[in-house]
Amino acid sequence: MNPYDLPVGRIEELVAKHGTPLYIVSREKLLENYNRLNRCLPAVTLFYAVKTNQHEGILEILKNAGAGFDVASRGEIMDAVHAGANPREDLIFADTVKDPKHIAHAFGIGLDDFTFDNPSEITQIARHAPGANVHVRIMVSNKGSVAHLSDKFGAEIKEAVPLLLEARDQGLVPRGVSFHVGSQCLDPQRYVDALDQTRGVFDEAAKHGLDLEMIDIGGGFPVKYEGEKIDIEGMCAIIDTHYRKLFGTEIKLVAEPGRAIVGDAVILVTKVISESVRKGKNWLYFDDGTYGSFMEVLLYQMRFPMKTNTDGPLRKYVLAGPTCDSIDVFSRNKKGRIKEVELPEMHLDDLLIAGSMGAYTYSESTRFNGFEPPGFVYID
Ligand SMILES: Cc1ncc(COP(=O)(O)O)c(C=O)c1O
Repeated sequence: MNPYDLPVGRIEELVAKHGTPLYIVSREKLLENYNRLNRCLPAVTLFYAVKTNQHEGILEILKNAGAGFDVASRGEIMDAVHAGANPREDLIFADTVKDPKHIAHAFGIGLDDFTFDNPSEITQIARHAPGANVHVRIMVSNKGSVAHLSDKFGAEIKEAVPLLLEARDQGLVPRGVSFHVGSQCLDPQRYVDALDQTRGVFDEAAKHGLDLEMIDIGGGFPVKYEGEKIDIEGMCAIIDTHYRKLFGTEIKLVAEPGRAIVGDAVILVTKVISESVRKGKNWLYFDDGTYGSFMEVLLYQMRFPMKTNTDGPLRKYVLAGPTCDSIDVFSRNKKGRIKEVELPEMHLDDLLIAGSMGAYTYSESTRFNGFEPPGFVYID
């Protein structure tokens, strides 16, 4: 069950017991999301992207369900290991920009699978993880996705094989190719095109005597926020069919999904702690905001489904967080400008319930002004 559909009375009970701000996590929904991807991508081994939400309960549930983990730092490695992950078998270090101290730490405890996209990363991996397995990340189209990761990451296609050869020359083991179609990708064609480009890299690599054996299709699988038409099963069927057409079943396939596993398994409950009228507009101030769970409103103009525990007449409100910064407003339009939203009338101590709050919320929250991130409670 999506926790957003919990009866409001039940949410109020949980808040009475645990306080606000509060994340309510549905174990059942988390497992349903993980199992669905596993089922729909039968050729793929899943490595949950820890950056999406590193809360220990989430990692433990996914570990017990059989997930591996994509990690980006020593902190994420420790979180995954704490949840029971075996560094060699269960972890991949898929971030292309790595702190060398973290490479050395990872290698020292057995993690030997790293992704890179430039010559200096080859040098860093060769220095601190000699002989490790490496994947080159290629730049693929992120068109239509919400977070455009190719703006920062990925080697140009023509550089991929020279980079793999350079890695081999520096004593590393070129193992495969990775890509990321961008987070919250709504168009399966992005994966189809990226697999086509990957096939080209494999063919070119073979001409140079490199026998690649693995493709990492990254993350990108979407979550329903407001109104999007999401068809994970259909998307996966397209990916699976195209992979089989291009590669048979010989090549190992892995993915690093985050958002689609944890996004709609979590809701946030935040309380009105202050209210005012400013230039004729009603403002509500909550005990969580953009420096907390709503960072993606600022970064990507994300909009989350919202409801209240009140049932008065609809009123227009600007929704703001508790910090000293005026950017701490989480009702914004698609251009990022402050806008009013319509909600049933709310006053002090009333509750705002936001859905699909599992991905890049807790993990992106800051300690600004001394505010702590929300607490967690796990249900069912
Ligand atoms: C290297 C890498 N892998 C996986 C992910 C997870 O992507 P998503 O949450 O879109 O599935 C990200 C997201 O930024 C990423 O950078």
